[in-house]
Amino acid sequence: MTRLGILISGRGSNMMALSDAIRDARIRNAEIVIVISDQSAAPGLEKARSCGLKTVIIERRGLVREEHEQLLLNTLRQFDVDLVCLAGYMRLLSPCFTDAYRRRILNIHPSLLPAFPGLDAQRQALEHGVKWSGCTVHFVDDTLDGGPIVAQSVVSVRDDDTVETLSARILEQEHQLYVEAVDLVVRGEYEVVGRRVLGV
Ligand code: GRF
Repeated sequence: MTRLGILISGRGSNMMALSDAIRDARIRNAEIVIVISDQSAAPGLEKARSCGLKTVIIERRGLVREEHEQLLLNTLRQFDVDLVCLAGYMRLLSPCFTDAYRRRILNIHPSLLPAFPGLDAQRQALEHGVKWSGCTVHFVDDTLDGGPIVAQSVVSVRDDDTVETLSARILEQEHQLYVEAVDLVVRGEYEVVGRRVLGV
């Protein structure tokens, strides 16, 4: 059984997509053992609790980044987490964290990386004028949205799209893509060759 730890900062819809997929056996042999938020007001916390998931709040306030990450690591270890899923977790992680869980941290990002890393990816895509965008699940290293890509899904950009409509269409894809990617990683049917994540 793969023990998942989910890190959130906000709404938590990707976390819920993973939780629903585990409940429905679309992801097998995995369980969410802890949800950690760095924001005490994250709406995702209540959603997690309402479906019986254990939650912990670890705020950054008053701590330097390494101290905060050490607390996160302590909690992940306390719950014996094998795979960390970032789901709208809004902080960059330093090498001290990413090395501790090397190739065992996933993130979902709302663009076709390497295009539009960082904040407001959907707005960046619209403003750039691309005709296609989408979402990416990747392993996390200490670069901004830069680790090896596990899976991507493409969404067309429409002439009448706003940031809101494009974000909503991408989000629908995110929920499916994250489930597929976590399932793949849990099954272990891949290898990482350089930057490439290949199916085996
Ligand atoms: C998603 O768009 C995700 O790609 C990005 O942050 C957003 C989080 O949404 N990293 P939610 O909290 O999962 O609803």
